[in-house]
Amino acid sequence: MSYAIIGAGKVGQALAKAFARKEIEVAIASRRPAEALAPVAKAIGPTVIARSLQDAVKAEIVLLAIPFGTQNEVAKAAKNWQGKILIDVTNAYGVVPEELDNLPSSIVISQAFPGAKLVKAFNHLPAETLAQDPKVEGGRRVLFLSSDDESAAGQVATLVERLGFAPVGLGALAEGGLLVQARGKIWAPLIFQDLFKKGE
Ligand SMILES: NC(=O)c1ccc[n+]([C@@H]2O[C@H](COP(=O)([O-])OP(=O)(O)OC[C@H]3O[C@@H](n4cnc5c(N)ncnc54)[C@H](OP(=O)(O)O)[C@@H]3O)[C@@H](O)[C@H]2O)c1
Repeated sequence: MSYAIIGAGKVGQALAKAFARKEIEVAIASRRPAEALAPVAKAIGPTVIARSLQDAVKAEIVLLAIPFGTQNEVAKAAKNWQGKILIDVTNAYGVVPEELDNLPSSIVISQAFPGAKLVKAFNHLPAETLAQDPKVEGGRRVLFLSSDDESAAGQVATLVERLGFAPVGLGALAEGGLLVQARGKIWAPLIFQDLFKKGE
């Protein structure tokens, strides 16, 4: 499986650190050219590779760590998104419900990527928490997953396990997904909940 992180800001770099910790190869891209991002990638670890946006979106699993509202720009970087798994790490904090047609923010994101299978994950913790080793004495840090595609959620759960976190499925985007979304000035109840699952 190939992976790419789009967005090299606070969250993009925190995600890259999680991949680097487990020595899993991952591309990282933003609007900047690959050469400009290369020092950022290199400082994180040898398995983090700076790429152009166009190259990065060729990955089978793409993690979207960009500001909400820039998704249409990113979507243009691939000829098509058919069959790709898109992990939505964005939060629509400050975006009023009317701007989202009263839809869950992840459904609005998915509309920009026709054919992609969207899984909402990695969005409920601050970047500095996400960047830390998820293994603590006696347990692993929990990440919530929601998706309308069970098979894609399963594949993302496998990635989450490989990165050392404990995946917890919440079900569909318009159901469990609402527990981890931001909209207007409201953070849903599971956002910022730093939970741990006991055991290996
Ligand atoms: N910060 C947190 O603690 C946190 C936690 C969970 C989720 N989130 C969510 O994660 C997302 C990113 O947050 P952040 O704090 O990492 O923001 P940030 O530090 O401002 O980084 C945003 C990144 O997106 C890139 N970007 C912007 N427009 C782009 C475009 N059209 N195409 C490609 N790349 C683009 C920027 O890179 P260039 O300028 O180089 O293009 C930058 O690297 C947001 O939706 C946020 O709500 C944030």
